[in-house]
Amino acid sequence: MKGIILIGFMGAGKTTVGKLLSEKTGMEHIDFDDKIVEEIGMTIQEYFDLHGEEAFRERETDVLKRYLDHNQVVSTGGGIVMRAENRNLLKQMAPVIYLQTKPEVFIPRLKQDHTTVRPLVVSKSPDEIKQVFEPRIPFYEESASLIVDTDNRTPEEIVNEILKNI
Ligand code: S3P
Repeated sequence: MKGIILIGFMGAGKTTVGKLLSEKTGMEHIDFDDKIVEEIGMTIQEYFDLHGEEAFRERETDVLKRYLDHNQVVSTGGGIVMRAENRNLLKQMAPVIYLQTKPEVFIPRLKQDHTTVRPLVVSKSPDEIKQVFEPRIPFYEESASLIVDTDNRTPEEIVNEILKNI
């Protein structure tokens, strides 16, 4: 089986679903955020503070290029679709699954998740978070080969739908 790439907004469940997909398929799981953190030797928030968002996006493109041909389950960062270059790279990779989630679902999740600081949503109001999300929707949609609605579904159900449809 070819690798599986997961895209979607922060809090969509890319990491949870990625781990479960990895268990079910036996393919290795790689989380791009974790990979980047390992390589930069600091947190994403620290990196944003020191070098800015654009430099982080460069790192994402770099890691994406390196993993183009790998047969792994990949959980990407929510902003990977922001660059046209990345969207084009994603289109060459197969299959790319957009975990589609409503703000009503991911906003409370983001507020409760204290495991990582996400610079683009930390200390933002729900409306401000929606303003980050909404312009990205067409980018997620155009980059995906399959869109899976995750609202009101367990990770197990989401994984079963992905495996049925790829
Ligand atoms: C980002 C999403 C984060 C992380 C960074 C920027 C974004 O990843 O890459 O904070 O711009 O959507 P997750 O989607 O895994 O939280």
